Amino acid sequence: MPTEAGLIKGLEGVVAATTRLCHLDGVQGRLAYQGHDIDDLARRASFEEVVWLLWHGELPRAAALEGFRKELAAARPPEPLVLKALKLLPREMHPMRVLQTTIALLGALDSDAEDNSAEANRRKAVRLVAQMATITAAFHRVRQGKRPAPPRPELGHAANFLYMVAGKKPKAVQVRAFDAALVLYAEHEMNASTFTTRVIASTLSDMHSAVAGGLGALKGPLHGGAGEAVMRTLQEIGSADQAEAFTKKALAEKRRLMGFGHRVYKAGDPRARILRELAEKACRQSGEGRWFDIAVRLHEAVNREKGLIPNVDFYSAPLFYALGIPVDLFVPVIAVSRIAGWTAHVLEQHADNRLIRPRAEYVGPAHRPFRPLAERD
Ligand code: CMC
Repeated sequence: MPTEAGLIKGLEGVVAATTRLCHLDGVQGRLAYQGHDIDDLARRASFEEVVWLLWHGELPRAAALEGFRKELAAARPPEPLVLKALKLLPREMHPMRVLQTTIALLGALDSDAEDNSAEANRRKAVRLVAQMATITAAFHRVRQGKRPAPPRPELGHAANFLYMVAGKKPKAVQVRAFDAALVLYAEHEMNASTFTTRVIASTLSDMHSAVAGGLGALKGPLHGGAGEAVMRTLQEIGSADQAEAFTKKALAEKRRLMGFGHRVYKAGDPRARILRELAEKACRQSGEGRWFDIAVRLHEAVNREKGLIPNVDFYSAPLFYALGIPVDLFVPVIAVSRIAGWTAHVLEQHADNRLIRPRAEYVGPAHRPFRPLAERD
């Protein structure tokens, strides 16, 4: 309920923009990008096709997709100055801070940086999609004292990222599961990080600045940071038979259970359903089945005790773990995907811009006289 001044805390239910990108039906638990159901896209389309769909409004034809793949591959090699910066940054720095820092640096190096035309934004968007993956993987290698694995132009986006992280070619089943996860995370309407990017874009600031802001919002544990927290919870629980006791204790201590609950989906997050299947397969195939078993028991216990349902970040945690992704790269991996949606929203915002500038309800003291420093006790 809004207050008398019209305040709706957390902007719950407030509609802040029109969008053609994503339709989210929280009551039916359905999600579609540009009219295409998320189940179809996750099972049958690649990340590259989905990026094209978000930017152009249609799935690409074969020739367009081939051209786009080449364009992305050509934009993958790291900028020498960014590589230099990665080597100078503290190894223990959280990779999300690294991304914020280096995306801002990339903006400074981009010849289109201050051009907000649709053509320039489209060119920058390609570079940002490619570079988010390259920088995430390169920092991981550099902090281990290894040389970054040079991107492989013949690999698709999902395969190339897994290759750049591990330094070895991933198996086809791993690539398929990761590609589906990238599709599932690519766009999600007016979530906190996308809202942040739109607010920044609405000031007519540039795409890199908007994305650096979005990264800051995504990092938080109530948003993308939840996935990392889920994996740490599964590790804390340790075995499936401890999930029930853990849940009762955590709820008694009023702990927030990460990976559960959602502002919009009340009947279930459709992405979680697909990720659960992917996680089970990947965990069993990699010999990491115990993480999936703990997750299922935790899911059942939390649902029974508190009525909460898993969101997208719950089953993606055991999935990413089984794919060999380090736990502190879980949030950057979401950025590697969500950059598709962020850039699409910046394009949409700049195509029909109006400054986003809401009001606040003032609850501070009434007007008071100024007392000079010497007269204050
Ligand atoms: N664990 C324990 N209690 C919860 C949880 C949870 N995960 N989620 C909601 N609640 C309770 C909350 O304590 C509150 O209870 P009460 O009314 O008794 O104080 C009630 O449910 C409403 O919570 P809220 O925080 O006001 O609801 P919201 O609509 O703002 O919640 C949420 C959305 C995602 C912030 C919340 O469910 C949450 O904190 N979940 C855990 C973090 C998480 O998984 N985040 C990822 C979100 S989905 C992906 C993404 O955005 O990147």
